[in-house]
Amino acid sequence: MIGFFGSAGLFLETLEKVIVQLKSELADLPFGMNMVYSGNTDLEWATLKMYITHGIHRISAAGFLRLTLPLVAYRLEGIQRQADGAVICPNQIIAKTSRLEIARQFLSPPPEKMLRDLVNQNRITGDQAALAETIPVACDLTAEADSGGHTDNRAAVSLLPSMIDLRDALAETFGYDTPPGIGLGGGIATPRAVAAAFTMGADYVLAGSIHQACVESGTSAAVRQMLAQALQTDVDMAPSANLFERGIKVQVLTRGTLFARRASRLYEIYRSHESLGSLPADVKNEIEDKIFKNSLEAEWESTREFFSAYDPAQLKPAETDPRRKMGLVFRSYLGKAARWAIAGDLSRQKDFQIWCGPAMGAFNEWAAGSFLEHPESRDFKTVAMNLLFGACVVLRRQQVMQGLARAGVLPQDFVGRFRPMELTEMEPYLT
Ligand SMILES: Cc1cc2nc3c(=O)[nH]c(=O)nc-3n(C[C@H](O)[C@H](O)[C@H](O)COP(=O)(O)O)c2cc1C
Repeated sequence: MIGFFGSAGLFLETLEKVIVQLKSELADLPFGMNMVYSGNTDLEWATLKMYITHGIHRISAAGFLRLTLPLVAYRLEGIQRQADGAVICPNQIIAKTSRLEIARQFLSPPPEKMLRDLVNQNRITGDQAALAETIPVACDLTAEADSGGHTDNRAAVSLLPSMIDLRDALAETFGYDTPPGIGLGGGIATPRAVAAAFTMGADYVLAGSIHQACVESGTSAAVRQMLAQALQTDVDMAPSANLFERGIKVQVLTRGTLFARRASRLYEIYRSHESLGSLPADVKNEIEDKIFKNSLEAEWESTREFFSAYDPAQLKPAETDPRRKMGLVFRSYLGKAARWAIAGDLSRQKDFQIWCGPAMGAFNEWAAGSFLEHPESRDFKTVAMNLLFGACVVLRRQQVMQGLARAGVLPQDFVGRFRPMELTEMEPYLT
């Protein structure tokens, strides 16, 4: 098992502190950091440079709409041929995408033009550029199906086989020594789902939503309680805080919170009006009373304060362009809604923004009636081991059943269920 620290929406300084903490607390345990596509190349260079400075050799590159030069530079930093002829890349990129056209870029060697640019910028040598032509940009790629947070809501059973076929085709074309692994994320929440992923040919699985309900997640007890009650249908798409103006959405919990509805209403208003000043009185009153619980003027002041610390570059255009100003104020509600949830501010519970996919409901349905029904019993290791160990049991049981069927013995309990187990119960089977 390996954990990746999700960096979406975090300051560079926060990330640096996190790295220092993780390195001291995890000692030799493997972990990776996350690089989320932002479209801001300067931010990408700065983040990846910081990762290299701190010896972070494994990143999860998520949501990229195209391959970028900083990512390729990170991958190729220190690329060399060993005495035995093998090409070694100290830095690993694990890409995460739901799109085949993006996967194709990650599963291919870096494009020639990028290699030329990197040589011209003296970031790599000509020899290193030649070596780069023999390796894929990503050492592994996660096919991201219908997940919590940013998602294209793809169906896992449709997506994974296509990604595996693409990997196989590109591995043959380029003759890689080590073809990239393909993992599956999105909807993974039960032993059967894990067993299905491996049966379809996944090399690994990735989970997110179910971890947020674990005691280690860092969110509030109130949020974990809400998550533990979710059904698979208690999720919906809502505007994303960082890409609000572009209409990008994230999947969130809808049970016990009106965030999805309120954030979508703000997006609707943003699309149909030019500025805060041009909002009709009834619309202004509606959002001040029901959503912001504050005057729009006061909201703008606190938005300005926030962005002058967080991302001053965004503030400048908003001060001169009234539409951008409206976008920034609306985005500040979305940002605060996530912070209220993490802090467990019950006065704003109806506004909690909680990223969550249908996996959460699937987990709750599987765990119902067991000790794992209660959020306080959900620790990460127990949850993860139940999924992996449970998947082994599910697959083994199927093999046994098939054997019995071939022998003409009709088993009585054909549909067996793997029920949640404590780690101590599993231990005897793990040696
Ligand atoms: C609360 C939460 C926070 C997440 N944060 C990030 C993040 O910062 N970066 C990222 O690449 N993915 C993030 N994700 C997505 C997960 O890494 C993972 O791809 C996804 O949750 C898998 O699907 P699942 O939710 O169905 O398990 C987040 C997901 C959740 C639920």
